[in-house]
Amino acid sequence: MNSALNISLKSFSRRLLRHDNYYFVCRHALRRSFSDIQSISVVYSEYGDPNKVLKSEQKVINGPLKSGEVLVKMMMAPVNPSDINMIEGSYFLKPPLPAIVGNEGVAEVMEVGADVQALKAGDWVIPNQAGFGTWRTHAVAKSMDLKRICNDIPPLSAATIAVNPCTAYRMLKDFVSLKPGDVVMQNSANSAVGQSVIQIAKAWDVRTVNIVRDRENLDELVEQLKSMGADHVVTEEFSRKPAMKDLIKSLGKPPKLAFNGVGGKSATELLRHLGQKGIMVTYGGMSRQPVIVPTGVFIFKEVSCIGYWNSQWNYENAESLERDKMFDELCQMIRECRLLPPPSEIYNLDNYAQAVESAMSGFQGKKKVLTMEDF
Ligand SMILES: NC(=O)c1ccc[n+]([C@@H]2O[C@H](COP(=O)([O-])OP(=O)(O)OC[C@H]3O[C@@H](n4cnc5c(N)ncnc54)[C@H](OP(=O)(O)O)[C@@H]3O)[C@@H](O)[C@H]2O)c1
Repeated sequence: MNSALNISLKSFSRRLLRHDNYYFVCRHALRRSFSDIQSISVVYSEYGDPNKVLKSEQKVINGPLKSGEVLVKMMMAPVNPSDINMIEGSYFLKPPLPAIVGNEGVAEVMEVGADVQALKAGDWVIPNQAGFGTWRTHAVAKSMDLKRICNDIPPLSAATIAVNPCTAYRMLKDFVSLKPGDVVMQNSANSAVGQSVIQIAKAWDVRTVNIVRDRENLDELVEQLKSMGADHVVTEEFSRKPAMKDLIKSLGKPPKLAFNGVGGKSATELLRHLGQKGIMVTYGGMSRQPVIVPTGVFIFKEVSCIGYWNSQWNYENAESLERDKMFDELCQMIRECRLLPPPSEIYNLDNYAQAVESAMSGFQGKKKVLTMEDF
């Protein structure tokens, strides 16, 4: 069958199902329960190549909710490198299998059970911790596993706020006390984390030196990052030339802080350009190469190398006021259009396989994001 026709028939039959559910919910409204919601999830039963081990599964969800439970409908969920690594079995967290894919995303609360005070129908929520399984249409979850998020921002921003902007925010705040005019540098500057670093640093008057991999449309990428507030954008190749030293000199003060999302040679170059007693924070390892620190850099520059993991920070700060303050600040930046979501390509949940395949090839330029709007 023609694939476009096939997709539209599928979504038509789902709409019918949804209509039937709605009818059923209305007829039984007095029982304050829901019945026969078809929840579709993307699951894996073994670790392996994400292009091979994923499949779609349908499950019927029935009420009533137990005390403390919440029924949510997922709205959007990104395809992040941590999702890919989790499916491969190479991530630090290994969920028990079978597992539903997806660590990040935004959902709308449809119904709450008894004793749920913090949430109400219509609220938008994000998972409190990694491993929630966001690549699905509906979920019944414990209210304490969800965090309410502002619902006056674009769904795409809400779906992508929890991992990358929070990582950027914490890395800019927790390791060095940055003052206006200070300089930070980073590799994989065009990643979603990198773009958040650029925008938050700009909002705080901190200058950024940004390193990206060379590509055909480099000028376009440089322009895009500069329009977000990047002060300098250079290629990995440039960062290894003497001209990079001149660029750093021209800043008036050397970078105090560097963010490494790549590892390998790229991380070593960052270290060479850090100032005395500078700190390099490693948060990602996209090259899959180890971080090698030249001995002289350790001794004579007295640099420190440290790691950051957002999931651990969330675990330690689940109820902290600092976490609420961070989300308030990030939501405000989003409202003021000072923090934009990464340029994205939206895929219907049905098309998760294409989204995954595309996310796994480099030089993509756009975050792949799944939408559950049609379910
Ligand atoms: N520690 C934490 O808490 C934390 C939180 C968030 C993210 N992360 C990690 O941060 C990294 C970026 O995540 P993201 O969501 O921002 O990614 P993303 O938006 O999907 O971007 C991926 C980035 O990786 C680069 N890249 C891909 N393959 C590469 C390779 N072989 N060598 C060098 N660079 C490569 C891409 O550059 P091109 O455009 O040149 O391909 C792009 O800049 C991932 O490793 C992720 O797991 C960690």
